[in-house]
Amino acid sequence: MSEPLDLTALPHDFLWGTATSAYQVEGAVAEDGRSPSIWDTFSHTPGKIAGDDHGDVACDHYHRWREDIGLMKRLGTNAYRLSIAWPRVVPGGDGPVNAKGLAFYDQLIDGLLEAGITPSVTLYHWDLPQVLQDRGGWPERDTAEHFAAYASVVAERLGDRVHHWTTLNEPLCSAWIGHLQGVMAPGFTDLTAAVRASYHLLLGHGLAAQAIRAAAPRAEVGIVNNLSTVEAASDRPEDQAAARREDGHTNRWWLDPVHGRGFPADMREVYGVELPERPGDLETIAAPLDWLGLNYYFPATVTDDPTGPAPHARAIRRPDVPRTGMDWEIDATGIETLLLRLTGEYGARKLYVTENGSAYPDVVRPDGTVDDPERQDYLVQHLAACASAAAKGAPLAGYFAWSLLDNFEWAYGYDKRFGLVHVDYDTQVRTIKGTGHRYAEIIREHRGRA
Ligand code: NOJ
Repeated sequence: MSEPLDLTALPHDFLWGTATSAYQVEGAVAEDGRSPSIWDTFSHTPGKIAGDDHGDVACDHYHRWREDIGLMKRLGTNAYRLSIAWPRVVPGGDGPVNAKGLAFYDQLIDGLLEAGITPSVTLYHWDLPQVLQDRGGWPERDTAEHFAAYASVVAERLGDRVHHWTTLNEPLCSAWIGHLQGVMAPGFTDLTAAVRASYHLLLGHGLAAQAIRAAAPRAEVGIVNNLSTVEAASDRPEDQAAARREDGHTNRWWLDPVHGRGFPADMREVYGVELPERPGDLETIAAPLDWLGLNYYFPATVTDDPTGPAPHARAIRRPDVPRTGMDWEIDATGIETLLLRLTGEYGARKLYVTENGSAYPDVVRPDGTVDDPERQDYLVQHLAACASAAAKGAPLAGYFAWSLLDNFEWAYGYDKRFGLVHVDYDTQVRTIKGTGHRYAEIIREHRGRA
């Protein structure tokens, strides 16, 4: 049943979008000169991904992008967040540009514009060229410099038509999950490597922001972070301190430096790792931003965990809290809290929800429909919370549902379905789910009123 949803606080030119990323949807990993990325290596390492799935074919978006633009039109969206695969554009990591790789994105952007859909382009959504990993990857400074050179190539080619640029998607995942927890590529469990990676990711962000602006003067540049609200599991001082550390690890470490506040001193102490700082880096990292992107999925409640890995805080399960198919807690108030925090504490001038969504084990019914009422509720609740944040002053300019399509959900493989559109991986048949239809209705209603 449709719940009433008041979106009047959202501006009339609101971007209603969907999002994907290159490795999760494209497939065609060995076509037209693409080189392997760290995710090809990681996903082909037995035992790393549920079901030993990999992105070799994924949603075959590389060949089916026209059909996928058709789906975006059917949803009534006016924006699409995609990522560029670095190993398609600069297969050697640095050096020669692969014309065929760039041509793919060139035609995709033209296709979107012809369909009246604003492209929002992310330069790094985790698919580092493996050749650069072989030379040390993000723990090494060179990687940040190569990233800026690649950003410049892409911005020069697409910057006449793309105005909305993201340097990094969720650097937290690249650094902490990829180098500390080892659950994502490159799969390390090394605090020093993780902290160095975090530093060079943010340096790469700053250098890339400069490179994009130089190549595309009309560019609006932002960074996308996955933030969480953090609560302590109890009033115990140990748990309160753990919550502060978790907030530092998940939120402040990524927000403070880009806002000119440097790396949080308390967290530097918690990690105890020397940062590979050079004079001028902090200024580079703090390059002024046009907007901030928030990816929001779930809140965190933590307890002190002195023997666990940094930041020595462990998430606990709160009983009786509803959860998605990822086993992630559902709490829409978190998105409002975070949007208001970015506005109040960090002075954001423009905000986008660059990802938000939920996974459930969807099936296509014999009548050809996909009924996903829980996802619909998740969407409606989170949009209501976004509108509430906007009503309280958050300068929210768009919302991108994760995801357009079911796709390769990293370490979880294909089992976890986040799409507004169901993908049958045997046939590549796409079916708009109930939530997709609901999203289209919400967008139509908002446009009608705006
Ligand atoms: C955030 C990531 O950016 C995206 O790649 C991922 O699929 C979603 N979260 C869901 O986990």
